[in-house]
Amino acid sequence: MAKFVVAIDGGAGSGKSTTARELAKRLHFFYLDTGAMYRAITLKYLQRDGDKDNIDRGLVSEIIASTTIDLRLENSVTRVYLDEKDVTLEIRKPQVNDFVSQISAIPAVRKWMVEKQREVAKGKKVICEGRDIGTVVFPNAQVKIYVQADLEVRAQRRRKELSEKNIESNFNEVIKNLKFRDKYDSSRQHSPLKKAEDAIVVDTTKLTIEQEISFVEKIVRERL
Ligand code: DC
Repeated sequence: MAKFVVAIDGGAGSGKSTTARELAKRLHFFYLDTGAMYRAITLKYLQRDGDKDNIDRGLVSEIIASTTIDLRLENSVTRVYLDEKDVTLEIRKPQVNDFVSQISAIPAVRKWMVEKQREVAKGKKVICEGRDIGTVVFPNAQVKIYVQADLEVRAQRRRKELSEKNIESNFNEVIKNLKFRDKYDSSRQHSPLKKAEDAIVVDTTKLTIEQEISFVEKIVRERL
């Protein structure tokens, strides 16, 4: 079991990653970015030339049976390793953005991920961010936050994030991808994105990053 869990869920580009990452630093918690794990598996499927129109379930099963994903903190930055190779930047690319929701909807992938995520959190204090953290992965989390923000603001933030990683983007394409993923992630049959009943909603549309982090930090400190 984890020692203490802060579950942060929300749609793509809602601001949850920035908050989760910074909060983990301030509180000395382990930062568990579950989206990065789904992205890594998606990258591997694409690298293996998996069919995109008709997902090859056999290939997916083979991949999850033989893949290692590690999240390692190096110089205060979490780096993502797929089979020991650093894919931190690659998993943010448009090809992955465009296909990650479809791979994430596969029940076998989700089952594998949830087990891994619980294993990683064992004995630790964690800030865990994703879509199903407060509802499925850690339903007994000590703090549950649901982050939301207006679509255009989310698109602007996502573009800024991409440009900081030297990845070019187009505003309309980003909007299209965010809308698509929100719809897909919230309507899938298994563990869809939804607010846990006992989650606190934080709307970050009009908040600065500092306001957003401080708000959540205060809630966590009160419950620690
Ligand atoms: O948080 P992100 O944008 O990096 O997540 C990428 C995708 O991974 C997201 O569109 C859906 C999926 N995901 C998921 O299904 N469950 C999670 N706990 C985290 C991410």
